Amino acid sequence: MDINKIKKDFPILENRKIAYLDSGATTQKPIQVIKAIEEYYQKYNANPHRGAYSLSIEATQAYENTREKIANFINAKNKEEIIFSKNATESLNLLAYSYGMQKLKKGDEVVLSIMEHHSNLVPWQKVCKITESKLNYMYINEEFEIPDEEIENKITDNTKIVAITHVSNVLGTINNIKKIIKQAHKKGAIIIVDASQSIPHMRIDVQDLDCDFLAFSGHKMLAPLGIGVLYGKKELLNKMEPFLMGGDMIEFVYEQETTFAPLPNKFEAGTQNVEGVIGLGAAIDYIENIGYDKIEKKEKELISYARQELSKLDYLTLYLTPKEENHSSVISFNIKGVHPHDVASILDTEGVCVRSGNHCAQPLMRFLGIDSTCRASFYFYNTKEDVDKLVSGLNKAYQIFEKYFK
Ligand code: ALA
Repeated sequence: MDINKIKKDFPILENRKIAYLDSGATTQKPIQVIKAIEEYYQKYNANPHRGAYSLSIEATQAYENTREKIANFINAKNKEEIIFSKNATESLNLLAYSYGMQKLKKGDEVVLSIMEHHSNLVPWQKVCKITESKLNYMYINEEFEIPDEEIENKITDNTKIVAITHVSNVLGTINNIKKIIKQAHKKGAIIIVDASQSIPHMRIDVQDLDCDFLAFSGHKMLAPLGIGVLYGKKELLNKMEPFLMGGDMIEFVYEQETTFAPLPNKFEAGTQNVEGVIGLGAAIDYIENIGYDKIEKKEKELISYARQELSKLDYLTLYLTPKEENHSSVISFNIKGVHPHDVASILDTEGVCVRSGNHCAQPLMRFLGIDSTCRASFYFYNTKEDVDKLVSGLNKAYQIFEKYFK
């Protein structure tokens, strides 16, 4: 597979002729993923785990095979450690309720970073309020990175849970999660990694990282919307109470009592998003066929080019680390004095799609002293021409507003 000719696999990119620079919000889907879903509905759609007939058994096998594929993909010890969810948000809520609510006591501390997406922040606020625990933040320095001292000072003997994003969805900073994981374990805390913005771009090995939990969404890595994953160490998941109650997560149900199914079913209540699971399996195949080595190489070149070209625009404020090796896939920027929504609308007229707003990270925006940014986020199907289109669109936006600054 030639990574430089990959755009042809993405019908929407071929049909719309756009520079799609919003893959941090959701990626486009290759034809292989779209076809896998179509084939599922045409050939083996049934409700897994429910039927004794062969169609349902086939659907069950496809569903469970994908669980195994994901376990191999992130190097989990076994497939029972993979729980399907709706998205990373649901995976993180599951942890807040089923782990945090049970374990935290008055005076305990939960540590996040200031760059968390609301999905890894608001659930912890809620749980900390109920359990009377304290919510602490690791802050970033002027290079948009969490300094080592901050990690050492904030994760203390009182810390019971550390929940951290691997890559910031606003800054693109790759956090030093190995150090954060080590520090958490040294202090006896468990560590949750939000891999939503990292796993599309780099290989994740949960055993090598030694994280306790890891959450991600399928739709940011070529899969359909509405399918997510929670990885957890078996010994921890086994001790946790279920999050959602209903069909398929039970063992015996009596009028007043219920016993629960073993892993992973205990955490998968109700009919699941089977087409999402099948699509996620096809997305993983697609990524593995290209190979993370090639994906990383291409994205590195692309990001490097984007950094270089955007740095030449002196009317732009860029929010990114100067260390290229600590930076992945996302570039946030503002044209001084112009609202990001205006910039994004002008870029749209030029066929360039970027996100504008607070990117579900209001505490980070407040910390940076701004309300919002424009954000270009890249994936391996993007090209240098997409970057050039962004730059010329920005020049147009600046020309439109320039007169107001004089
Ligand atoms: N979390 C997604 C983003 O950062 C939606 O855009």
